[in-house]
Amino acid sequence: MSLPFEVSPGRPGLCVLLARKGWIWLGPIFIFAGMAMGQTTEKVDPFKNSDRPVPANYKGPIFHLSHDYPTARPDPPVDPPWIKALGGKPISQDNALAYVKALKDYIAADMRKLILDYANWNADQAGWYNMPWLFSITEPIHGTYVGSSFPHTMFPLSGLKKDMTTLVVVYYDRTAGYTIGQIWGKDAMKPDLSRAQYQEGAIIVKVALTTATKEEWAPMEGAATWDIGDGGPNPSKAAFFQFDIIVKDSKTAPRTTWVFSTLVYDKNARGDAWDKMIPLGAMWGNDPDVNSAINPNVPLKENVINPMAPLYATETLGYGGRLSGPNDGAIVQDAIIDGDLVPRVTVSSCMSCHGVAENPMRSFLLPGPGISNAQGGISPTAQGDLMYLDKPGSVAFLQWFQDRPGTEPQDSGTQPLDYHMNLAFKALPLWAKFTGQDPGQIYARSPAGLRELLLHPESSSKTGRLLDRTH
Ligand code: HEC
Repeated sequence: MSLPFEVSPGRPGLCVLLARKGWIWLGPIFIFAGMAMGQTTEKVDPFKNSDRPVPANYKGPIFHLSHDYPTARPDPPVDPPWIKALGGKPISQDNALAYVKALKDYIAADMRKLILDYANWNADQAGWYNMPWLFSITEPIHGTYVGSSFPHTMFPLSGLKKDMTTLVVVYYDRTAGYTIGQIWGKDAMKPDLSRAQYQEGAIIVKVALTTATKEEWAPMEGAATWDIGDGGPNPSKAAFFQFDIIVKDSKTAPRTTWVFSTLVYDKNARGDAWDKMIPLGAMWGNDPDVNSAINPNVPLKENVINPMAPLYATETLGYGGRLSGPNDGAIVQDAIIDGDLVPRVTVSSCMSCHGVAENPMRSFLLPGPGISNAQGGISPTAQGDLMYLDKPGSVAFLQWFQDRPGTEPQDSGTQPLDYHMNLAFKALPLWAKFTGQDPGQIYARSPAGLRELLLHPESSSKTGRLLDRTH
């Protein structure tokens, strides 16, 4: 397998990317290089919108990376509507969906514009921000990049007919945007990870779309679609199906400091495509006290799932029924656990996966060492893409199901990144690549499967697989 591209200080110039999958279009990337007295200087703009051309036949609005981050430290919100929605009680099964609804309402005017009225969307004006360094993975129309790809067998109950790829774009509100600015400074060349902790009230959202159309997946009937610039002369379409909202709220969630929630498209709900986004659920901890592998019927106390959620969204819930969405990959097919091949196993949750946001990452996203690989992999006898995982409920597995505040990393000796995966898993590996950091050094203590993902940020996916890996 060849690398998508190489950037090395010793070889300046134009690097042409190899496109290997029709619609995952990569490149070309221009590295502005200069040579003086035997020294190489490379200049690359971390805030570039996208490396890819706008499709020739597309005339609509395009993505502008919003990066005029607020510089004044935001005050914590006073009695915000989501906390009010709890009715003065601790968050629980009874009031958590009201909390999610209040969050949705709070951002609705802006998000309806972004999703349904793109011509009138102006992120800078609305006070929503994006992450630098993602230009090589971002398409030019909506700034989305590949989140995951799933075989059609991942959704057996809702009848997905074709393998699908998901596309995502992340937006940070003003309070969260302040922290992005603190991390990257003006030029984004030297991240300051001691500033990676979010302020109270920070809201981060992620829009997720799928390439499966309604013909290929009946639950997508009536979903809003976005034009995606994937390299061809015409844009392709993707259906809006999941919308994550996370909020830094250590008052409500003192054990983890965050509440994670997600909305999913429900074709039977009323209203427009935004109204039809209903809560799938919320979680504010991993319920470390409940060993769901041993006691599957013990109810979770830090997690709620909407009983009205559509089937396609509940068939991929996380470990023991913890929250995870259809875009999230909490289920692994073809895992090796204790030497046995397991066809389908549920191993993750929103906060379990996000809990490995640390620098440098030393834990795989899913519980276990991860994918074996032929080149210097975990085991010399390992085959193909089988994913090596810990046994659900085991001591090793439960490392991924702790409750920790965002200031404590999963692995001691690493820098905690406050549950921020877009930073840990995407922006930092891309920054490292483009600025010529020594990967041998920074990823030296990452397990082999994870190291391979961090070394290939253009094709890494949060399901723990390389998107363009040939089998
Ligand atoms: C198996 C791992 C995994 C699971 C499960 C997961 N995420 Fe993420 N999440 C990621 C990764 C990796 C990113 C970085 C962007 C990307 O690749 O999609 C991310 C990005 C995000 C972001 C942008 C901010 C950030 O932290 O980077 C939000 C918001 C988010 N996820 C919410 C959720 C919610 C809500 C759930 C559960 C419903 C969830 N995630 C489940 C891995 C995961």
